[in-house]
Amino acid sequence: MENNKLKIGIIGLGTVGQGVVKVLSKYDDIEIVSAAVKNINKQREVTVQNLTQDPYELARNADIDVIVEVAGGCEILDVLVEAVKNKKHIVMANKELLARHGAMLFDLAKENGVSILYEAAVAGGIPIIMPIKTSLKANSFNFVAGILNGTTNYILTKMEEENLSYEECLKKAQELGYAEADPWSDVEGYDAMYKIAILANIVFNKRIDINKIYREGITKITAFDIQIADELGYKIKLIAQAKKAQYDNKEMLDIRVHPMLVQKSKAISEIKNATNAVMLDGFPVDKVMFVGPGAGQFPTSSSVAGDILTLKAEINRREEILPLMACHHSVYAEQADIEDTINCYYIRISTRNNPGEIGKIGTACGEFGINLSCIIQKGTNQDGSATIIVITENSIEKNINKMINKLESDNYTKIVNKIRVM
Ligand SMILES: NC(=O)c1ccc[n+]([C@@H]2O[C@H](COP(=O)([O-])OP(=O)(O)OC[C@H]3O[C@@H](n4cnc5c(N)ncnc54)[C@H](OP(=O)(O)O)[C@@H]3O)[C@@H](O)[C@H]2O)c1
Repeated sequence: MENNKLKIGIIGLGTVGQGVVKVLSKYDDIEIVSAAVKNINKQREVTVQNLTQDPYELARNADIDVIVEVAGGCEILDVLVEAVKNKKHIVMANKELLARHGAMLFDLAKENGVSILYEAAVAGGIPIIMPIKTSLKANSFNFVAGILNGTTNYILTKMEEENLSYEECLKKAQELGYAEADPWSDVEGYDAMYKIAILANIVFNKRIDINKIYREGITKITAFDIQIADELGYKIKLIAQAKKAQYDNKEMLDIRVHPMLVQKSKAISEIKNATNAVMLDGFPVDKVMFVGPGAGQFPTSSSVAGDILTLKAEINRREEILPLMACHHSVYAEQADIEDTINCYYIRISTRNNPGEIGKIGTACGEFGINLSCIIQKGTNQDGSATIIVITENSIEKNINKMINKLESDNYTKIVNKIRVM
């Protein structure tokens, strides 16, 4: 850093990259040396002096102190590896790359004495990485969970408020720019999975294998399920969670993403539209919740610019920069299999409208040690079938699946939906 001026190179000038340029424009002591994009001829809202289509130019530029990676995708990994080897600090918003390759990248950063900051990668504008690593450093956590994907929360909110189908609400979200043309990563829960992997990693100080995270999206949720949940005192949310648990007498990390019925009395049930929330439970702090905008040009740029300014304040001050922000763990967590987890379940059953069907459900639950807290019949359908809703007490997932197999073995009973309860 020459003349107290921090020199940065930005990879990506899309939604976030352009926001970062706008936000940094008021800082005379930060210079954007160069930016890399895919298409150099594209019209943009901001101007950067040196534009290139080769991001390696930035990784190799001796003038650059910090690489800001806001391109996305995992193809950019090799560029970041080269930048770290060239002793450049990294600020990034790329949750997928961090969740898949973070361990390798952090090891490399340690070897090369540089920092990787990634506040924007989880929950966009909400400060969560830095607080966990600094202000909450003294805590031992047993639980972190959140609504980490604005697109799905927007869709579920609209389904609930306007009694519309999933497809109608997805279309609405796409028209308003809350969902991508290809919404797969959001609606199938991948985006939230990357984020909970990053959070679990720093909250529990363990490496996380994303291939062992159970993941289920929101595409099977219907307006009918939302309406029934509402009548029973719940909202349906896509929850990403990681918690310490003892299954089969073994300490495990139970990490997953799936829709959940959330009691209306819980604060997280009130998180609407594209807003995100992260809850933590630890000692000595107890329960805390962070709420705010999880995406968008300016909220995300707030986090990226905050990381850049943090580095600016630290570089040249001491030998080891931001030691609390470094990655200090190298051991992989024991991750629970979803079959071994314990949950309460909402189960929507379609069966014959005959006397004795409810009794059969009760018997099947009894056979597998499942206690029910609620069983109701929601009228009869046009085809003569009956819809029965069951809410169980805490049960082992594999017993629930055995009970479901037993019920479905009669060829006329079908489990239409199974949603875990928070
Ligand atoms: N958008 C949000 O609200 C948000 C929130 C939190 C985190 N993030 C994360 O921030 C990152 C950027 O998101 P975004 O929404 O800004 O994406 P975006 O609008 O699609 O912009 C991506 C930018 O990267 C450039 N790019 C892509 N591949 C490149 C490559 N190989 N070399 C050089 N440039 C390349 C693109 O160039 P062209 O413009 O020439 O195509 C574009 O300028 C992603 O990791 C995303 O997950 C985004």
